[in-house]
Amino acid sequence: MPQRKRIYSGIQPTAVMTIGNYFGAVQNWVRLQDECDCVYCVVDLHAMIATHDAGELRYASKEMFVSLLAAGIDPDRTTVYIQSTVPEQTELCWMLATLTSLGDLSRMTQFKEKSALLKGGHAGDESAFVSAGLLFYPVLQAADILAYRTDCVPVGQDQSQHLELSRGIARRFNSRFGYLFPEPETLHAPITKVLSTADPSRKMSKSLGPRHYIGLFEEEDSIRKKIRSAVTDSGRPGQGAGADAEDPRDRRASPGIENLLTLLAACGHEDDARQMREDYFSGTLRYVNLKGLTADALVALTGEMRDRRAEILRRETDLDGRIKAMAERARSMAGETLALARDKMGMFSPPT
Ligand code: TRP
Repeated sequence: MPQRKRIYSGIQPTAVMTIGNYFGAVQNWVRLQDECDCVYCVVDLHAMIATHDAGELRYASKEMFVSLLAAGIDPDRTTVYIQSTVPEQTELCWMLATLTSLGDLSRMTQFKEKSALLKGGHAGDESAFVSAGLLFYPVLQAADILAYRTDCVPVGQDQSQHLELSRGIARRFNSRFGYLFPEPETLHAPITKVLSTADPSRKMSKSLGPRHYIGLFEEEDSIRKKIRSAVTDSGRPGQGAGADAEDPRDRRASPGIENLLTLLAACGHEDDARQMREDYFSGTLRYVNLKGLTADALVALTGEMRDRRAEILRRETDLDGRIKAMAERARSMAGETLALARDKMGMFSPPT
């Protein structure tokens, strides 16, 4: 039997997981568990590149860990852990840094954009604090991925450049010190981009304020209210931009309607979504029906997760034990790779 592929991905710690996070990444992570050997990480060390409050970071990391379990990441099949519990990765990060070109790091789009933002868009403003952590970010990401000798990394398009860098680092290591790391491929899975229901011209995001996002574990009433008040469009049904495309499959409804149709389909109601799209273009769609169905689907999908989350939180000591057990598993996996990498690079082993 061929070995199952090793999958690795990371998510930033935030205290609230939104349905945007879920449909945009985590739902796919849950599915991948059926076919692959998965490792998922709450990347608290990466989150430290922004000025942060220690208590908030610790809280958000734990909340994200709980959210992943509640959303369906299964610790019996999958290793899911908080990054700072595995110091082996941070050590590998240093080793890999010696194989990373400074030029490559300073050309990373994310580094350029974030450092420019910190400088308030004024190039050459040296008063802004741009930490070296911002520059090092992709090396730590490479260490995450390579520590588990990963085959595939499911990430969004915005991470392609970081993945390319990871492959380059793996290649350089392998050619200089002998083969150790598979070159990790990017897995561009079919994910769903969710827009703000209050302003469908923008991506769903917590930073826009509570009207603009729906939490995955939000109360039923609140979910219904937000869907009921979702912005649809100002034109008549069937008159949205793209409504007159020749091929019916190319037709696009207004962004607000598309967003609701997307959510409905993402909840597993693809047939209803297809039917309602047709109704939209034939001018017979009643928006209250679309909203009602979408709210029902979301409530049905998330209800079970909300219960699971409450159950996990009720047993606080079990939770701490679980975080520890997962860290031990991850450390032993990363430790194995690290011992090989140390040996190949000519380092001494620490006494045991
Ligand atoms: N940089 C990723 C993001 O912002 C998060 C991340 C950290 C990650 N380490 C990773 C993703 C390793 C995939 C693999 O989304």
